[in-house]
Amino acid sequence: MSYQVAVSSDDKAQRYAELLPQLQALIASEQDQIASLANVAAALNACFDWLWVGFYLVKGQQLVLGPFQGPLACTRIDFGKGVCGAAWQQGRTLLVQDVDAFPGHIACSSLARSEVVVPVFDGQGTVKAVLDIDSSRLGEYDEIDRAALEQLATWLTPLFN
Ligand code: SME
Repeated sequence: MSYQVAVSSDDKAQRYAELLPQLQALIASEQDQIASLANVAAALNACFDWLWVGFYLVKGQQLVLGPFQGPLACTRIDFGKGVCGAAWQQGRTLLVQDVDAFPGHIACSSLARSEVVVPVFDGQGTVKAVLDIDSSRLGEYDEIDRAALEQLATWLTPLFN
């Protein structure tokens, strides 16, 4: 197993196409949940110019901060609160083009402008975590991100079974 990831294209879809097989291999190589999530966050951070990328883990009635890359972040988010809590509640990916226009957005960083949050499910279809990605640019995320990150999330399911 090589502990590095590399992408070369300038095109976002192409970058994901290069990165996803590397992430799949990375995830398959380690069954420990924290170890694998930590490397996924590091790999995504290495390949994209994002403000923050990481996981919040469902613990009881809250999301609790998990492995991440980026500035310090809030540690606990209640069910239904913020973009992360809403994605957990709704069990679906949320693309937010302008966080200031999202009611209840939790501003961990004043630099955050747009974000995407993708639920991670266990084998029974219960949300066990969310992948939260923030950008300092408005409108950073689109259907290309959704498709790629939802594919990634399916590979994480065995870590939560
Ligand atoms: N953006 C999130 C809060 C978490 S931080 O951005 C890392 C939200 O509103 O759910």
